[in-house]
Amino acid sequence: MALFFSSTQSIPATAEVPRHIAVIMDGNGRWAKKRFLPRVAGHKRGVEVVRDIVKQCASIGVEYLTLFAFSSENWRRPQEEVSFLMGLFMEALQQEVSKLHKNNIRLVMIGDHSRFDESLREQIARAEALTRDNTGLTLTIAANYGGRWDILQAVNRLQAEHPELAGNYNEEHLAPYLSMHYAPEPDLFIRTGGEQRISNFLLWQLAYSELYFTDTLWPDFDSAAFELSIASYRQRERRFGRTSEQLQQ
Ligand code: IPE
Ligand code: IPE
Ligand code: MG
Repeated sequence: MALFFSSTQSIPATAEVPRHIAVIMDGNGRWAKKRFLPRVAGHKRGVEVVRDIVKQCASIGVEYLTLFAFSSENWRRPQEEVSFLMGLFMEALQQEVSKLHKNNIRLVMIGDHSRFDESLREQIARAEALTRDNTGLTLTIAANYGGRWDILQAVNRLQAEHPELAGNYNEEHLAPYLSMHYAPEPDLFIRTGGEQRISNFLLWQLAYSELYFTDTLWPDFDSAAFELSIASYRQRERRFGRTSEQLQQ
């Protein structure tokens, strides 16, 4: 049977270390602007921070780390920034995948990749295939991802494969078609860069995630900043609809 994780259908166990952390890595452009550098310099620095956070998550026992790298709305940016970002994905994949593999990390890319160049799609497929059986941290990169796109593609595929269930779809039916079907819902959501919004990230899966917003810009998000987010998470009382008294019992 396929795994079925749902915070609305059953109450997940809460652990000291979040099993799944989802991050909106925001603030690269502002980081660069503050230094009178082009925006893309912020993106470059951002990749280095990804490397450090992946390492840190693996070392404290996080099982799933999901990073928002490019939203379905980021195509609205200037053409040259979009091209630079595509180049950066390509480069990062080429340079990092063997290291990820050596560290037993499984890489999964989610999002609508149909708009990417053939060469980038091939690179993604190769990286996923190489690391598929790794048993350490699962690193998910969301690229050309949108929460609404995800829910709609899931409903459409479910409907195509199970027309007989139409009108009676439930969460368990939908779950296997969602992009992150292989992972529990995020325990902790982090957004750097000061904005307090979801920006069409994991709309379905964030139902009961603990939200953490920090003004720290992504290129400045170092291990101390990461530890603060974990400390904040540890102080939360995750009630999932119950009362505090019920939890004390
Ligand atoms: C996040 O940083 C990276 C991407 C969206 C690709 P931004 O580029 O959004 O940086 P700010 O928000 O303009 O500072
Ligand atoms: C969200 O950041 C997307 C990523 C970090 C990839 P944006 O910078 O695109 O979000 P908005 O436009 O400020 O909401
Ligand atoms: Mg931004």
